[in-house]
Amino acid sequence: MALDDLFQPLTVRSLTVPNRFAMAPMTRQASPEGVPGADVAEYYRRRAAGGVGLIITEGIRLPDPAAGYPASVPTLAGDDVLAGWARVIEQVHAQGATIAAQLWHQGVERRDDDGVQPVGPSGVNGLGQPRGRALGTDELAGIAQLYATSAATARDLGFDAVEIHGAHGYLLDQFLWECTNRRTDGYGGSPAARTRFPAEVVAAIRAAVGPDYPIIYRFSQWKGTDYAASIAARPAELQELLMPLVAAGVDVLHPSTRRHYEPGFPEHDPHMSLAGWTRKLTGKPVIAVGSVGLETQFRAEKRGQVIAPAPIDRVVEQFEAGEFDVVAIGRALLTEPNWVNMLRDGQLGGFAGYDAAAALSALA
Ligand SMILES: Cc1cc2nc3c(=O)[nH]c(=O)nc-3n(C[C@H](O)[C@H](O)[C@H](O)COP(=O)(O)O)c2cc1C
Repeated sequence: MALDDLFQPLTVRSLTVPNRFAMAPMTRQASPEGVPGADVAEYYRRRAAGGVGLIITEGIRLPDPAAGYPASVPTLAGDDVLAGWARVIEQVHAQGATIAAQLWHQGVERRDDDGVQPVGPSGVNGLGQPRGRALGTDELAGIAQLYATSAATARDLGFDAVEIHGAHGYLLDQFLWECTNRRTDGYGGSPAARTRFPAEVVAAIRAAVGPDYPIIYRFSQWKGTDYAASIAARPAELQELLMPLVAAGVDVLHPSTRRHYEPGFPEHDPHMSLAGWTRKLTGKPVIAVGSVGLETQFRAEKRGQVIAPAPIDRVVEQFEAGEFDVVAIGRALLTEPNWVNMLRDGQLGGFAGYDAAAALSALA
């Protein structure tokens, strides 16, 4: 019965997702000069045909050279680019699925091999070392506007929602995280100050897209540079960071974890996941993610290793316990585009697991 419940639709503002399965955003670097070609449309079409209800695109660079690298990460500006995304959207919609555009600014994590200087809250990277330069207070509104313009473009093009990439140590997460945010201008220090710029970004997007368009916000405790990092040591602190985002207009929160079944704050509750805490603390719909259907967590895999499938009972239990509304699947969908339909049809026994080599060719 509970598995059937995961195949019921969910409506958030103007978006109705036909079931509770999302494709997690996964960077492909397969859009030369930022233009998503016919192969990109086919890649997403296959996952939509495979039963995914909501595709969240790979991170899309904001239209500013400092926002992202390399050039093969798609953008959301220019006629060729927009025609490419229009084809993606059309093919995903033709399968009955929905699609959200993930908006990405890499901040100081941007590589600088091409001579473009990275920017961030304090010119400090996730290891606490000097990196790039600190953004001036007077530059922040311009960056918020880049998000807003991109979100309006996404809406006009037919994307069903936008997701703000505020996770994994990239720009907005650099504001939320004390390690990378040393600002003294009202945008750093207390949780309320650290979340101020991310909330201004949300407010700018909300003003640009209007009241009915869904805004998803992805955040994480873990960073690309530090899996044990955290932006909030306690549930109350997480609430202080998240409620201003909700007040500014976020509709759905997407806490990114490497293992969906791990407790978010074990000293407060031995079971409740970060997704569960997020839902409880904010009252908003939540997307859970991390090692669904696979035995080994994201980035623990070794080159060439095949990761065995894992049962999804715990996902169903968490859903029954009210810990999330939608679950996102990453790596399993790289090697098996039909994963969701196989689950629905009781055929997951035929899923061989995650094969890194096969996934790489799926991403290429
Ligand atoms: C190849 C690859 C690229 C990724 N790129 C992004 C990205 O662009 N944006 C993002 O928020 N997360 C990204 N992630 C993280 C995934 O969205 C997801 O959170 C992670 O893979 C854990 O889910 P899984 O265990 O089901 O794979 C990426 C993951 C992989 C494997």
